[in-house]
Formats: sequence, structure tokens, C-alpha cells
Amino acid sequence: MRNKYTIFLVFIVALVIIEKENNIISRVSDKLTPKQTPQTPLEPNASVPVFLKQNGSYSSLSELDSAFLHFKKRLENYTQLIQHSQGNYLPGRRKHILLLATTRTGSSFVGEFFNQQGNNMFYLFEPLWHVEKILTLKTGGTNATASAKAYRDVLQQLFLCDFQLLENFITPSPQDHITPSLFRRESSSSLCEDPVCTPFVKKVFERYHCKTRRCGPLNLTLASESCHQKEHRAIKTVRVRQLETLRPLTEDPRLDVKFIQLVRDPRAVLASRMVAFSAKYKNWKKWAMDREVPIDDEEVKKLKGNCENIRMSAEVGLKQPPWLRRRYMLVRYEDIARYPMQKAAEMYRFTGIPFTPQVKEWILKNTQASQDASGVYSTQKNSSEQVEKWRFGIPLNLAQVVQQVCGPAMKLFGYKFVYDQQTLTDKSISLLEEKTFHFT
Ligand SMILES: *[C@@H]1O[C@H](CO)[C@@H](O)[C@H](O)[C@H]1NC(C)=O
Ligand SMILES: *[C@@H]1O[C@H](CO)[C@@H](O)[C@H](O)[C@H]1NC(C)=O
Ligand SMILES: *[C@@H]1O[C@H](CO)[C@@H](O)[C@H](O)[C@H]1NC(C)=O
Ligand SMILES: *[C@@H]1O[C@H](CO)[C@@H](O)[C@H](O)[C@H]1NC(C)=O
Ligand SMILES: *[C@@H]1O[C@H](CO)[C@@H](O)[C@H](O)[C@H]1NC(C)=O
Repeated sequence: MRNKYTIFLVFIVALVIIEKENNIISRVSDKLTPKQTPQTPLEPNASVPVFLKQNGSYSSLSELDSAFLHFKKRLENYTQLIQHSQGNYLPGRRKHILLLATTRTGSSFVGEFFNQQGNNMFYLFEPLWHVEKILTLKTGGTNATASAKAYRDVLQQLFLCDFQLLENFITPSPQDHITPSLFRRESSSSLCEDPVCTPFVKKVFERYHCKTRRCGPLNLTLASESCHQKEHRAIKTVRVRQLETLRPLTEDPRLDVKFIQLVRDPRAVLASRMVAFSAKYKNWKKWAMDREVPIDDEEVKKLKGNCENIRMSAEVGLKQPPWLRRRYMLVRYEDIARYPMQKAAEMYRFTGIPFTPQVKEWILKNTQASQDASGVYSTQKNSSEQVEKWRFGIPLNLAQVVQQVCGPAMKLFGYKFVYDQQTLTDKSISLLEEKTFHFT
């Protein structure tokens, strides 16, 4: 909004200057060809810039000349400014989409909506994985301020197609900007297509790095070039804790950032994590058997902290402060699972990017067939069925603990509480309030 306003303003100023310049040109030519209709003599103060009428008259041609040059220069400056904003950086054209989620909320699936967009999209899957890994190694990842800053800076650079900062976090360190170790490279179609997919030369023990085709290790210089050539950029991450920490991205005139926050019923998230991250969630599994949950346990506090972060980010977003105006959208996993096509269309409308036939095709293919949901990251599921599955995968006592510590978030997003086993597992009773989140 602010950017558009700035451009509009610059444009008006430029028009005024062009107008004034035209005045001067016509006046200069009047003076140079006085034989013609001796019109009204030059009026020093009629639509003539202030600095010209210092003496109340045009004393010499050279004065006019220099005035003219000055205007020409300024006009050039403004023209440059406008071109600059219409070229690479025109807000309103190039979009930078950040899909914000937490694990087990369907973010890989929703990320595909953008990964499948086609030739105009440069998509990265969870680049902050590397950042978190190093921060955890170095400081235990305990300094939330430092982490938030690192995440933000890396995201900012990546949106500008600059991999330098990210390279510092990749281990082992890339050599000459080449790395075989980018996390889930194969999830980003831009990194597996020509020319970023370089020939694979078989060496002992070396794996190839894309799923559907054999590519050599990733050349980040090529990745950056490819990124520059694409019109839009999208990044999916589950690591940003507070939306507020990303505010500087909205203030960078080179970016037109759109945040999509993806949320899911925290009871379902817990049920899913207990399956996907079985070792890490062994305490929860024990509590599921015990029926007693130590509410003061660190794990429970962590769950509460996560829910609070999600809620606070959403509250900031839904409040629509000026810095987030038209930049924030909240989406529930359950709505996407039930109405994937409509929701995808809504997201595309929000971002201002064309909803391509490729995306529609991908969604059709991946939401209807009840193919095997083997891999934990699999996105090929019968998505309507998936929505209710958790209700059979979590005992009532754990569901109630989640309700206790994630209550405010659940209320905000419209997830209904359950108090008895029968309601929990009765699929005819919906635990989802129909809710639309309005964005102006
Ligand atoms: C234009 O200049 C004349 C004389 O220099 C002055 O009398 C008149 O008030 C000026 N008009 C305006 C609109 O400044
Ligand atoms: C045009 O831009 C240059 C460099 O930004 C600046 O030095 C110069 O003063 C500007 N000229 C005018 C007339 O605004
Ligand atoms: C956390 O990181 C911030 C920013 O880098 C730094 O200013 C602060 O001193 C750090 N705090 C601790 C406790 O290390
Ligand atoms: C990586 O790509 C860049 C840009 O095309 C190229 O200049 C460089 O030689 C490549 N690096 C290697 C090791 O092939
Ligand atoms: C997907 O699941 C829903 C709900 O269980 C069911 O009605 C539908 O037939 C399933 N679709 C496919 C293609 O299996």
C-alpha cells in the first residue's frame, strides 16, 4: 500500500516536472523564434518554477539554459526511479510469499500449491533448517532474539536471490558455491530443473540429488541466477516463531511480501507428531498410557509456548496493523483439506499471482486419490479423510491437556473442545467451527 502510494506520488511529481519542462521548452523556443505571434511576453510567475523568478525576469538565455539542464537532470532522476520500481522491483508485480507454519500442519502440501505454479515461481522448501541446525549447535538455540534475527536476515536475502548468508549455515561448507547438502533440495522444482540440474557424474558413494532425475550437486550460483529469472518467489518455513519479527521484510522496498500463516487443530498436530517423531514424543506416548500428564513438564510447557506463538502471530495478523495491510492471510489446514481448490484459489487471489492450470491439476491429482500415505512427509492423501483421523489417534486425556494449554489459540481458530470419549471419536460431531477470517 505504502509502496503503491510512493510510486503514485513519484509519478505525479514527474508529471508536474514534465509539464514544467514543456513550459520552459516552449518558452525557450518562443524566445529563440521571436518573429512568430508575439504572444504575451513571458510572465515570470505563471507556472514557472520559483528559482527562475528570483529577479522577476529572465535576464539571459544562459540562465534559461541552466534551468533547463537542471530540470532535465531531475526528470532523468525521476525517470530512473520509476523505471527502477517498474523493473525488477515493482511492488504489485513481483511477489514474495512466505508460508508460515509449524510441523505437521500440512505445510509441505500447501507449499506444493506454489511449487507447482510453473515457470514463474522460485520455491524453496524450509531453507531455515540449516540455520536452526547451526544455531542449535552453537548456542543450543536458546537465544530466541538471535534466532529470529538470523531467520529474518536469511529470508530477506533469499527473497532477493542471494544465497551468501545461507551458505554460512550449510554444513559442510559449500565449495565454490557448490553443495550436495541443501536440505530437501528435491522438494523445490526450481532446483531440479534445467539449468540448475547439472549433469550427474557417478562417483562411488555419491548419491544424486533430485527425485525424478539425476542431478549433480547444487550450484548455488546457478540457483541464484534461476531465482532472478523467475517472476515470483515463495518460501515455506516452520521455524519462524513470531510474525512480528519479520516486520523489517515489509519495510524493504525491494520486497512485496505476502505472509500466509497456516494453522491446524493442535490436538491433531500432537497426534500426528507422536506418530511422525516417535522418539522425540516418547514422553507423550507414555502419558497416553498413564492417563496422568504432569502439567508442569517441560514438554507440556513447550507445547503451550508453541501455541502461544502461533496465537500471538495470528492476532497480530488479524488485527491488520498498517505494516501488514494486505500482507497477511490466515488459513486453517482443515479448510484446505476440505476445500483444497477453493482455498488454493483464495491464496492465489490474495498473493495476486495467477492460479495456473498446473496447480489445479496437481491439486486434483493429490487430493482425491487415497494413495498410500506411507512417507511421513507424504502429501498424497485423501485429504477429507485426513482431517478427522487424529480423533482416533489421541486419547482423551491428551486431547484435554492440549485444550488446557492451547485453549486461547483453539478458540481463536475455531476448534471445539471435547470433554468425553464419545464426542472425541464420533465423526458425525464436527469439532470445527465454520469460520472465515476477514481481510481488508
Ligand atoms: C506575478 O508577478 C507580478 C509582478 O512581478 C505581480 O504583480 C503578481 O502579483 C504576480 N502574480 C502572482 C500570482 O504571483
Ligand atoms: C540527481 O541524482 C543525483 C544522484 O542521485 C544527485 O546527485 C543529483 O543532485 C540529482 N539531481 C537533481 C537535479 O535532483
Ligand atoms: C541474544 O542475542 C542478541 C542478539 O544477537 C544479543 O544481543 C543478546 O546479548 C543475546 N542474549 C544472550 C543471553 O546471549
Ligand atoms: C556454477 O555456476 C556458475 C554460473 O553458471 C559457473 O560460473 C560456475 O563455474 C559453476 N561452478 C561449477 C563448479 O561448475
Ligand atoms: C476420501 O475420504 C472420504 C471421507 O472418508 C470418502 O468419502 C471418499 O470417498 C474418499 N475418496 C477417495 C477417492 O478415496
